[in-house]
Amino acid sequence: MSGTLAQAFLCCEPGPVLFSEEGSAEAVAASFAETEDPRLREVVTSLVHHLHAFVKDVELTEEEWAAAIDFLTRTGQKCDDVRQEFILLSDVLGVSMLVETINHRAGGTGTESTVLGPFHMVESPPRELGDDIALDGKGTPCLVRGRVTGPDGEPIPGASVDAWQANDEGFYDVQQPGVQPEYNLRGLFTADDDGRFHFRTIEPRHYPIPYDGPVGELLAATGRHAFRPAHLHLIVSAPGYRPVTTHVFVAGSPYLDSDAVFGVKESLIRDVAEVDDPALAAKHHLPNPFHTLTFDLTLLRQDQGAP
Ligand code: BEZ
Ligand code: FE
Repeated sequence: MSGTLAQAFLCCEPGPVLFSEEGSAEAVAASFAETEDPRLREVVTSLVHHLHAFVKDVELTEEEWAAAIDFLTRTGQKCDDVRQEFILLSDVLGVSMLVETINHRAGGTGTESTVLGPFHMVESPPRELGDDIALDGKGTPCLVRGRVTGPDGEPIPGASVDAWQANDEGFYDVQQPGVQPEYNLRGLFTADDDGRFHFRTIEPRHYPIPYDGPVGELLAATGRHAFRPAHLHLIVSAPGYRPVTTHVFVAGSPYLDSDAVFGVKESLIRDVAEVDDPALAAKHHLPNPFHTLTFDLTLLRQDQGAP
């Protein structure tokens, strides 16, 4: 027995918690007991307990542990300015959605939130109501419109509506620099005095998340596909209200019931309708008949706590 250990036993003070298979989590958690920041202490202690329980549950082999280290190393190496493989990993494990959902409980009254995704990496350019955000002219034209209101139905004039989506081939502008025009399919709109907004775009289509990296390998090895159902991303905000990061999903799209990143919420699905109205079509510079996607949003007030 070492001198320090013997001393601890002799003077009957609680000795260091030594590592053992049964008490591994307690031994490691004890090493963090002096952490000053109480939240950090809580998080790291819980993490240690869950991690050790997981290793014991599956009786992780040394080969599996080495493979996991290699996987995480390659996940980090895949990251650069335009690719965040760790967020993608969090997405396909459902962690991004869980964090989002816990932190933005809408209580059944506000518009529900969903994942931000990795492609809101550039500021959307300010545009006028009615503008066309499809700069490459490809895809099926679609008029998106909606109204932003507060919890009592009051319109929110001047609400900010930030919209972005993938092109008809399933790629965001930032994934194809030099192929798509810069800021293709992105726009920052300001709602009118009645909280209404509208703009032209293309009908969203389903597309795969990037799968040429470790996360794609994980999906392939586990028999999962990489697709997301057709959607348009939105961040809607206004002074005095809680902003919402969300999508509108297209009803009938493939993968609504198996989104690779678990982002679908029933309340966010809308039909694309066909409108036969030559005057309206002419007003919006669209061929008649044309397609529309209508999505009204309700923002909770800033002082309304999470229900
Ligand atoms: C997206 O919808 O843009 C997205 C979300 C999560 C992972 C990859 C893409
Ligand atoms: Fe997306």
